[in-house]
Amino acid sequence: MSVDLVIKGGCIVGERGRIRAGIAVHAGRIVAIADDDLLPPATTVVDATGLHLLPGVIDVHVHFREPGMAHKETWTTGSRAAAAGGVTTVFDMPNTEPPVDTVAHLEQKHERAREQSLVDFGLYGLLGEHNLDQLAALAEAGVIGFKLFLGNTTGNLPCPSDGAVREGFEILADLGLRCSIHAENSPMLFWREARLQAAGRNDPRAHLEARDDLVAVEALNRACTIAEWTGARIHIVHESTSASLPYIAFFKQRGVDLTVETLPQYLLLSMDDVEAPNGAALRMNPPIRDAFHQAPLWEALTSGLIDMIATDHAPHGPGEKTGARIWDIACGLLGVETSLPLMLTEVNNGRLTLEEYVRASAAAPARAFGLYGRKGVLQVGADADIVVVDLERHATLSAARQHSLDRQFPYDGRPVQGVPVMTFVRGRLVAKDGEPVETARGWGRMVRPTMPAPRPRNVERSLARLTRPLG
Ligand code: DOR
Ligand code: ZN
Repeated sequence: MSVDLVIKGGCIVGERGRIRAGIAVHAGRIVAIADDDLLPPATTVVDATGLHLLPGVIDVHVHFREPGMAHKETWTTGSRAAAAGGVTTVFDMPNTEPPVDTVAHLEQKHERAREQSLVDFGLYGLLGEHNLDQLAALAEAGVIGFKLFLGNTTGNLPCPSDGAVREGFEILADLGLRCSIHAENSPMLFWREARLQAAGRNDPRAHLEARDDLVAVEALNRACTIAEWTGARIHIVHESTSASLPYIAFFKQRGVDLTVETLPQYLLLSMDDVEAPNGAALRMNPPIRDAFHQAPLWEALTSGLIDMIATDHAPHGPGEKTGARIWDIACGLLGVETSLPLMLTEVNNGRLTLEEYVRASAAAPARAFGLYGRKGVLQVGADADIVVVDLERHATLSAARQHSLDRQFPYDGRPVQGVPVMTFVRGRLVAKDGEPVETARGWGRMVRPTMPAPRPRNVERSLARLTRPLG
């Protein structure tokens, strides 16, 4: 028997170790992992001598902006950046225009993504105050999970009331899908922004002060408390502060089905960068913080307390990342294309092992969102989502070479060691040597989660039960 593709000569990395072996791929799946001489003949044979094979990166947090904000990014440009950066699956956030609050709006986005994307994608539904009656239909239609904006950010989606959040969690606990949460306290940050602005504070640090640690810690605790009570599965996006870590440990210990991501931005950038000349463009939500947060965040990542790395890839249009006052600068940074080389550089620096990186970039995201086995791991039967990396190669990141529409790039000139050489999505080459393969446009498909059985709690006090017609 002959297969489509064999990649041989490389070293295959999993979260629990690595082996020297080859991979055979047929019809998009891994069909064999064996010594190179035992692999079947193939139409295409790739020599990966001296290279490492990792499960393709799963980035659970990107903003590809379509529909509605195509001047910031499109599914074509965003997914080209993803492919070039070794990312084989992205989960797109629902703060587009319109937001993904109904099945019709989900379909609008799905159509655009399916036509353009080079990589596979999950689509988030929105958990908002006005669409609690849509959550079940969105789940049925295949959303990867839901997104709750407790903290205000791009798109200005209003933060639902606590009552709506509780009822939303009751519904999601029953559905079993995970809810990703932007954990900042909106009323608190609005209040502080207004007071700081009234006092004439327009400097970059004022943005950090408006959204200080308590703004994050309070929202995290509220979300976890309601999740524990209702049995909802939750995911905290872009964890930025070491002040959250004891609370994350506490709620995990109490059995809350809680996963957490952090971003390269928080691990590698600090207020030293934000307060440097031209640093104000690093404005994002939650803000980049003082450098002392970095070491505890790294420790939490390697220990597994923080489960995964995402990017919050948040492009903006021409001129939107500039302004006289910090308040005028759009929030969010590019990231999907450069997360892998930045993190491989840290592997080379000894900050984490390659196995820990595979856990944080692929295995843990797949597990949290019901994809594990199909994705997130190189094993027989899994999708052949593979990124071949050269851990030895040095490169310099450059704004000009990014594939996103946005030209504002936080890592211009930064040296890296460790780069993606080839990215395969279901066996198809979608990028080589940092350049996307044009013909792969439209190859990406929507992924749907297969979650464990739901485990709702305190059901007798849920509004669905209490408002059920009597008799
Ligand atoms: O800085 C941010 N930008 N933080 C978010 O949470 C959203 C994102 C965006 O959509 O621009
Ligand atoms: Zn985001």
